[in-house]
Amino acid sequence: MIISASLMCADLTRLGEDIAELEAAGVDWLHFDIMDGHFVPNLTFGPDLVRNLRPITKLPFDVHLMIEEPIRHLDRFREAGSDIIVVHAEACGHLQRTLAAIRDLGAQAGVALNPSTPLSALDYVLGDVDLILLMTVNPGYAGQKLIPSTIPKIAELAERLAREKRSIHLQVDGNVSFENARTMAANGANCFVAGSSSVFAEGMTRAEGTRRLREAVLAGTPTRQGSY
Ligand code: DX5
Ligand code: ZN
Repeated sequence: MIISASLMCADLTRLGEDIAELEAAGVDWLHFDIMDGHFVPNLTFGPDLVRNLRPITKLPFDVHLMIEEPIRHLDRFREAGSDIIVVHAEACGHLQRTLAAIRDLGAQAGVALNPSTPLSALDYVLGDVDLILLMTVNPGYAGQKLIPSTIPKIAELAERLAREKRSIHLQVDGNVSFENARTMAANGANCFVAGSSSVFAEGMTRAEGTRRLREAVLAGTPTRQGSY
């Protein structure tokens, strides 16, 4: 299981210290929600934030580009220190070319689908990705509620990846609460974008939030038949 902490939910007045706490809490990746105010209604950070944070942590940077035609910005996000670059299928005029360009830059390539985008959008790019992100809320804002129809979508994708023996991260992003994380794991998710309803939950330390999220995911994760 991978926990990717969503920095848009961090304490932006003390981001460096918060990242140190996240690292001590044992999160696996740091998740950057990059928004352009066009593909999604909200605006957040750009490559300069990635570049400024790169020297202060060794954690992999999981960069979620919620921007139109992301192919225009790949090199800047890679130069800034992104390890995984995730683009939305809905935002790319040429999805396969964009994914190939990410890999050409030496980063891992991810494709994200909005809640209403069918899994068939993945049919011709499964060989081009290291990660698939299924949005469980409509992208743009933290603090939203999970869209129930995304749960069977996780299961359907997990079954397909297992059937085709593809080792691709199945990432979920949006209202990954302790309760939802257990359900998401039970349906096959193995990479969790942790935000305001778990690692960054009000009144909880980063360590406590991370520990509880890991416990919830473990509780939901199906054990392999016959494994000890
Ligand atoms: C939506 C964002 C959020 C964020 C996490 O575009 O991607 O999902 O990472 O926020 P919560 O966990 O509050 O949904
Ligand atoms: Zn995200």
